Amino acid sequence: MSGSPSAPPADELAAVTLTDSVAGVVEAEFSQRVLIRSIIRRPDGGADLAGQRVRVGGWVKKGRKQRAIAFLEVNDGSCEANLQVLVDAELVTTLGEVTVGQIVATGTCVHVEGTLKVPPEGTVQRIELNVEKVLDLGTVNAAKYPLPKTKLTLEFIRDYVHLRPRTNAISAIARIRNALAYATHTFFQKHGFLYVHTPIITTSDCEGAGEMFQVTTLINDAEKLEKELTKIPADLEAARILAKDKGEIVTQLKSAKASDTEISAAVSELKIAKENLKKLEEKSKLKPGIPQKDGKIDYGQDFFARQAFLTVSGQLQVETYASALSSVYTFGPTFRAEHSHTSRHLAEFWMVEPEIAFADIQDDMNCAEAFVKFLCQWLLDNCRDDMEFMVEKFDKSAIDRLEMVAATGFVRLSYTDAVAILEEASKETNFENKVEWGIDLASEHERYLTEVKYKKPVIVYNYPKGIKAFYMKVNTDNKTVAAMDVLVPKVGELIGGSQREERYEVIRDRILEMGLPLEPYEWYLDLRRFGTVKHSGFGLGFERMILFATGIDNIRDVIPFPRYPGRADL
Ligand code: 4AD
Ligand code: MG
Repeated sequence: MSGSPSAPPADELAAVTLTDSVAGVVEAEFSQRVLIRSIIRRPDGGADLAGQRVRVGGWVKKGRKQRAIAFLEVNDGSCEANLQVLVDAELVTTLGEVTVGQIVATGTCVHVEGTLKVPPEGTVQRIELNVEKVLDLGTVNAAKYPLPKTKLTLEFIRDYVHLRPRTNAISAIARIRNALAYATHTFFQKHGFLYVHTPIITTSDCEGAGEMFQVTTLINDAEKLEKELTKIPADLEAARILAKDKGEIVTQLKSAKASDTEISAAVSELKIAKENLKKLEEKSKLKPGIPQKDGKIDYGQDFFARQAFLTVSGQLQVETYASALSSVYTFGPTFRAEHSHTSRHLAEFWMVEPEIAFADIQDDMNCAEAFVKFLCQWLLDNCRDDMEFMVEKFDKSAIDRLEMVAATGFVRLSYTDAVAILEEASKETNFENKVEWGIDLASEHERYLTEVKYKKPVIVYNYPKGIKAFYMKVNTDNKTVAAMDVLVPKVGELIGGSQREERYEVIRDRILEMGLPLEPYEWYLDLRRFGTVKHSGFGLGFERMILFATGIDNIRDVIPFPRYPGRADL
């Protein structure tokens, strides 16, 4: 533990000092234990709590047995540091089958109660827990536990997404991710933005790039039908026989001059049998497979009676709220069916998307810069220990980078100037992709600008209209659009945004120019038809921000459940 000089927040202290008012065991709210953080992250490492009774719960990181005592390094995820927990063999053996040798196994869950004490001199720990009562144990079969060792590569633990949160790296990343989410809401709420939940299922393609996952029940329906059709011949035969039998019963009853009640009962049974037969006959005529109409898939028969997708961005929908509530943002999962296997792309990732009415591209860049700086400062102020862990294990410059970004102004460069710089640079640097005006900047170009040339974040703006989405505002040169990308060292593109085209005719023509159909965008065009407003926004790739902050190399390690081509565990 780094021994942060700042005192823990009041709520953490409250949980610990409760003993003063409640005789006996301290119980944190909503959970029968106190956070380990609230003990060992105190200014003196928890030493002043000696003599207090507490309950803790956590998982054994490392354990050893010394004579009749188990020494357990217990972690509950509240911070990177572990609490040393001492358990006497006798306490364990009274639990039945469990032996003290078993509880020292990495991964064992312990829920214990005892007294905090200062360990003997010469120990690293400032406080340890002397257990007096073992409340619960979750044992581990050490021979079968997949993550027994402490040193495992991130790549290895990716195969155990369900257990990897127990590793130091993944739990530190989870805390940093959580802090960044909290910081995101804090930043926008502080600036008067309203949080809007945009749909995950959508019928419009925001980026117009056609990299969308389709949402359909046609396939399940087709499979179900296929199964039913195999059974139909036998069912049909049985239904025919039944209808025939029921018919004969009616005839017999009539000729035997049975009572009216008996006859009408038999007639209604015959009716049911005939109806069932008719239904089966109709079903037997259905064709297996996905329904077609005029040689195309008939989406009219799909769940939403039209084609639907997972969203690639909440932007278009959040614009509807910006056109009424002015400053809004959405923050949610987005999906892209790109077959890219890079360390910067996921098929499911989270995006923060503010949308600001009465704002131009300058306001947009100012907002993006302030937001990124705020996130960096937040981590410096609130996640010191975890950031120090990142520096120690993954990236020596992670904290320096946060400090630099929090304190320095971002470079702002037009695309045309950026291309000139890159053309000049390509005389000495061997870029894989040729640089010329009109190209979409490749990752190597973006990283050259931010890592080599300026060594700080760079905002490139005014891109050629041909390489950008239809919704971006066309500049007066009629060649460029008011787009802006924020490029940062280590990652490249962190943010993509723009001023939006608010002129009805211009945006309609842009949609057509890009070969997109108008019909799905009619509602979007309405925003321009009725009370159109100058507005701007951007999207920050949340996982890219975590990569940037932590210095972790692969984006698959900064999202709890990574989805990429060929992989969607759990
Ligand atoms: O630049 P993009 O495609 O912009 C949009 O989607 C806009 N509609 C946003 C807006 O203006 N509201 O994506 C925004 C950011 C990128 O800069 C990048 O950081 C991240 O999203 N991103 C990805 N992150 C992980 N995996 C992927 N496949 C990503 N694609 C984009
Ligand atoms: Mg982009």
